[in-house]
Amino acid sequence: MARLYFEDFGHGNPVVCLHAFALDHTVWSDVAKELRSSYRLILPDLRGHEKSPIPEGKYSMRDMGGDVISILDSLNIEKACFIGHSMGGYVVLAVVKYFRERVIGIGLVASHAYADSDEKKKSRMEDVKKLKTMSPSEVLREMSLKLTRNQKIQGYCIKKIYEMDPKGVIGSLAGMAEREDSINSLRDLGIPVGIIAGKDDQIIPITTCREMSKTINPSFYLEIEGCGHMPMMEKPEIVSSAIKNFVKSSMETLL
Ligand code: MLT
Repeated sequence: MARLYFEDFGHGNPVVCLHAFALDHTVWSDVAKELRSSYRLILPDLRGHEKSPIPEGKYSMRDMGGDVISILDSLNIEKACFIGHSMGGYVVLAVVKYFRERVIGIGLVASHAYADSDEKKKSRMEDVKKLKTMSPSEVLREMSLKLTRNQKIQGYCIKKIYEMDPKGVIGSLAGMAEREDSINSLRDLGIPVGIIAGKDDQIIPITTCREMSKTINPSFYLEIEGCGHMPMMEKPEIVSSAIKNFVKSSMETLL
């Protein structure tokens, strides 16, 4: 277990927001400003990222989820809504699989529930090999340029990505490559599932989100026009109000 750095503020029922690969909790800043008067927000840096510990080895999605659950334990929070962006969504899927009793509802933002294709696994493991001799800025350059067309947001993210500790990049890539397919378990989950997708996402194509949505029939599905892989930064008002409504209706299922 890694003892994660996290921010904890706001008032109301707890909502945990998890960031994507090679980024950190600050990607949620704009959304957090909108949500903090309605909910208590827990925003961790996942293991290997920014202010959290950076262990050696592979980071399984289950272990990353376990780190997050330890935060809830330390705060005596029994249940929360979990929102995950991209890789953060993969971690949320592990949380719901292994710590189901702690989950009220889950939201996936620019994320999906499929395992990697063989080709994707191979390319992740090639990147892991490259990182033995090359820097994250060289290996992740192509990916970082696909995040968004918004230059300011792209610049912000690129700085974070290029400053990543290679151990954190390697651990996350290897963990994502071996994650399980969650699509079938989502079909009959019995708790609310919300999906937010950017129509111009160049990392997780909109077609993948549409296919997932058709298969699992989520309680909430939103496609955002003119938005890439960073909806919470590109369209914070839309994302905040969607999360607010989704979390409110998820909480009501508990009553
Ligand atoms: C992310 O943004 O978290 C990752 O790029 C997702 C992925 O590589 O599957």
